[in-house]
Formats: sequence, structure tokens, C-alpha cells
Amino acid sequence: MKVEITESVPRGRFQSIAFLHEAKDPAARAPECVREALAAACRASGFRGRDREVAGARTEKGGWVLVGLGRGPATVPTLRRALRRAVRDAGKHDPDRLLLAFDNGVDARVMRILIREAAQADYQFEQYKSRPRAGSPPVSAVVILPSSVGRKDVERSVREAPAFVESLRWARDLGNTPSNDLGPGDFAREAGVAARRVGVPLRVLDRRQIEKEGMGGVLAVGSGSARPPVFLIGDHRPPRGSRSRGTVVLVGKGITFDSGGISIKPAASMGEMKYDMMGAATVFACLFAAKRIDLPVRVVALAPLAENLPSGTACRPGDILRMRNGKTVEVDNTDAEGRLVLADALSYAENFRPDVIVDVATLTGAVLVALGHECAGLMTPDNDLARDLVEAGEETGERLWRLPVWQDYRANLKSEWADMKNTGGRNAGTINAAVFLQEFVPPGVKWAHLDVAGVAHLEKEHAGYDAGATGFGVALILEFLRTHFSVSPGRGDGKKSPGKGKPQTSSGIGKRRTSSGNGKRKTGNDRKA
Ligand code: BES
Ligand code: MN
Ligand code: ZN
Repeated sequence: MKVEITESVPRGRFQSIAFLHEAKDPAARAPECVREALAAACRASGFRGRDREVAGARTEKGGWVLVGLGRGPATVPTLRRALRRAVRDAGKHDPDRLLLAFDNGVDARVMRILIREAAQADYQFEQYKSRPRAGSPPVSAVVILPSSVGRKDVERSVREAPAFVESLRWARDLGNTPSNDLGPGDFAREAGVAARRVGVPLRVLDRRQIEKEGMGGVLAVGSGSARPPVFLIGDHRPPRGSRSRGTVVLVGKGITFDSGGISIKPAASMGEMKYDMMGAATVFACLFAAKRIDLPVRVVALAPLAENLPSGTACRPGDILRMRNGKTVEVDNTDAEGRLVLADALSYAENFRPDVIVDVATLTGAVLVALGHECAGLMTPDNDLARDLVEAGEETGERLWRLPVWQDYRANLKSEWADMKNTGGRNAGTINAAVFLQEFVPPGVKWAHLDVAGVAHLEKEHAGYDAGATGFGVALILEFLRTHFSVSPGRGDGKKSPGKGKPQTSSGIGKRRTSSGNGKRKTGNDRKA
């Protein structure tokens, strides 16, 4: 929905919702223009602000829904949950417009997150329901800023929210669409529609062209399905005149369904594997948003799309593939298919002479074992890149946690017959996958891998995300593109021309600030570079 900000109470009819931390007087830290009304509402309802407490109060100063945030400051997941629930509940009463008020336990960074959150809080996926849910979600929200946040702090988030939300919605819709309606060709078609709408050129390589490219991994993974693989290339070039600040290639895993292939998965929750294309959807959503907000960096999105099914034509365990970069891979397990398609896409990225490659993939179940649903796994040998990505995650509430990609793990992939196997045994499954990918990264190019298997979709509501595709990573990557490829005043390390052969000596994440999300932000983040 549409989001605006205000510092005073607007005229007109609203459904008013206040988010307040627990206190003797929960209204004490509320925005001044509504403080009195809220104090009356709290008194009338006995509202204390306890976590998940919800109260309604009608006073002579108007009606309010009061939502408790507990003893603060509330975490991003708590706020996200409170906001989504409130918007969903409000929807039952068919309000057109919401008025949202936050107290000053909310700082500028969190307010930016909440603005994006509010803008997408009305998301529903009901294409397959014969009868839609009762009530209709609100169409717009006016946010009253707390006194702790200035208009300048959030202006850009408000301005860019429509582009962000539309791209995110596109990605989530594709993820939630079942695989009978979304094969590789369907994904390509949907990307084509969106690309034309926003005006980015899109190339689609069909199976013949994929063969010509020598992409043995993509071909093998797609060979079991009647629906052939495709390879997508989208390209956002900054407008002439606005000096481009570099090139980043985003690579997304696009398995429209992952049965495991001949190494078939157990039946329980195999249906979740319709989400195995969320990496591809995420990087294309980033591309579309980057174009719509005119980011001054060239963004190339690559997506190898295939369906991993067992059949008489499927790839077998024991098969040896020759990949695009000439290396050979023994397929130990056809369920480790993501790394096979990504390998070819990573090596294809060399065509764009990128400064940075970031891949996004629902790659391993092991990352769920390690990190659960609370963050994505980040793997990169580059400390600067790790720091920038982790910081972008803190800024957007899409957190990353770094795992090593030391060459020590390379031994796990040793094959008797080929250059490597596509699996590395039971231990360190997430890292083994990353070490495999690293073999295909063009030499000398900075690269980071995001394993989003634990966060790209959720089976049930969690941490304020609804069940289904989350779109995790879109906000984070857009933030990263903005900060990594702009000249930041305080940094003084010439981010203007990234990747120009400077030795990487930074001691990495944790040096500048902790990953707890409460550390001090560097300043100047919000400035348009
Ligand atoms: N798409 C899966 C990973 C996955 C698991 C995503 C659970 C989301 C939720 C991936 O293709 C896969 O099957 N990985 C295997 C690798 C193994 C065979 C080395 C895994 O994690 O079990
Ligand atoms: Mn698999
Ligand atoms: Zn998979």
C-alpha cells in the first residue's frame, strides 16, 4: 500500500493504530501531536504496552487501536510482526486509510525498515482461492514519525517504497506460484513482462544456446524434465551522464522445482521445493528495482532456470559433466543441483567484467541446521565485501551471518575421476557448497554467496513474515548496491572504483561494529551519492 509520512495529525477518516513500548505511561514517548489522545486511550483501556498486547479505545479524541511492543527497544522481528498483524486485523474492517504512530523507542534505521514493511504489509497471495478472504486490505497509510526520527532520515525510503514493493511482490508471487504453473519457460516469460514494463533489456538463452555456451551443469540438471532449461540475462545500465560506479553481477538459483532428481528427496515437505527458484526471483527483483530507482551502478542479473526431476533422460549419480569453464564434475548426488547450475552462471559472469559478483541461492538444508530462519548464510573470501553486506543486512533487517570458505574444505570435494564431486559429505554442507561454487568464479573477481535456504520461504508465520515466499534479500542487496558503489565520506578508501586490484587488508566484519544490530550506524547512509 501507499505510504506517506507526517508530523501532524492529517484530516480525514482513518483507522488509527499506535505502536507503543511498555511503560507506566505508554503514551509518554508517543509523537506529540497524538500524545494526549493516546494517553486518554491508554487510560480508558488500561493498556500497558506489553508485548503482543492489543487494545481498542474510543475516546472523545477519536478511536485508537493500541499495539504493545514490550519493554524496548523492540527488535525488528517484533515490530514487523506487530505491524503485519495490525494491518491484517485492520483489513477486516475495510478501512481505506491507516494512521500509524510509533513512539520514540523507534530510531531512524528501524523507521526505514518499518516504512518498507508497511508498504508491503497488505501483500496476499490468493490467486488459487476460489473465494477471497473477507475484508479488503487498506490502500494507504500515513505514518506519524516519532520525535526521534527526522523527515530527512526516511524520505528516500518513502520515495523508493513503491519501486521496492512492486519488485518484491513480483518475486514473492513467483515463489508462491506452484510448479505446475511455473516452469523455466514460465519464469522467463514473467521476467520478460516485468522487464518490458520497467524498461530493462532481457536476453533468454534457450536450450540450444545453453548447449553452445557449454553449460554442462545447466543442461544436466534440466535433462530430466519435459520443460527445457533456460538462461536469463537482464542488464541495467545507469543512464548516460550519471557516472556509472561499477558493475555488479547478481546470480540467482532458479530451480522451479527440486525433486532431488534420481537421488530423489523424501516425500515429506517436498512441496516446499517450488520455492527453489527464489534466488533467481530475488536477483531479478533487485534488477527491476535498481532500474526503477536509477541506481548509478550497472546491475546484471543472471538466472539459470531448470526443473530437477527424475526420468529416463535425467542425469545420474556417477555421471561426469564438463562445465562451461572447462572443469569436470562427478555428480555424486543429483540433489546437489543448485551448485551445478550456479557454477555455469558464475563463469558466464566473466562476460561483464564485474567488480563484484553476488549469488543468491536456496542452496543447502545444512544452512537451516546452522542458522535456522533468523538470517542467511554469507560466504566470501573478501573481508571488505563481507563487511558491506553484513552492514546492509543490519540496515534493512535482513541479517547475514558469515561462514568461512577456506580452501581447507576443498579436500571434501575430491573425486577419484573428475576435478571434483558435487557433494562433500555430511559435515560443513553449506561451506562445501560455497567452496564448490568458488571453483567457477572468474579469477580475480570479488564474490559473495548468500545461502538463503532458511529465509527465502517459511512454512508458517515466523519473525513477522507470513507463510510463503518472503522476498528476503531484495532490500539488503539494494542497500548494498547503494553503499558499496557510492563514495562514502567517512570511509576514505576510494569505493569509487571498486575492485581495482587493491589488496584486501581489512580485518573484516566485527571490526567496525558488531552484528547485533544495535551498533552505531555510519553516517551519510541516506545521502544520495
Ligand atoms: N534446494 C535444496 C536445499 C534446500 C533444502 C532448500 C531445504 C530449502 C530447504 C538443495 O538443492 C539440496 O537439495 N541440497 C542438498 C545438498 C546435498 C545433497 C549435498 C541438501 O541440502 O540436502
Ligand atoms: Mn536439491
Ligand atoms: Zn535445490
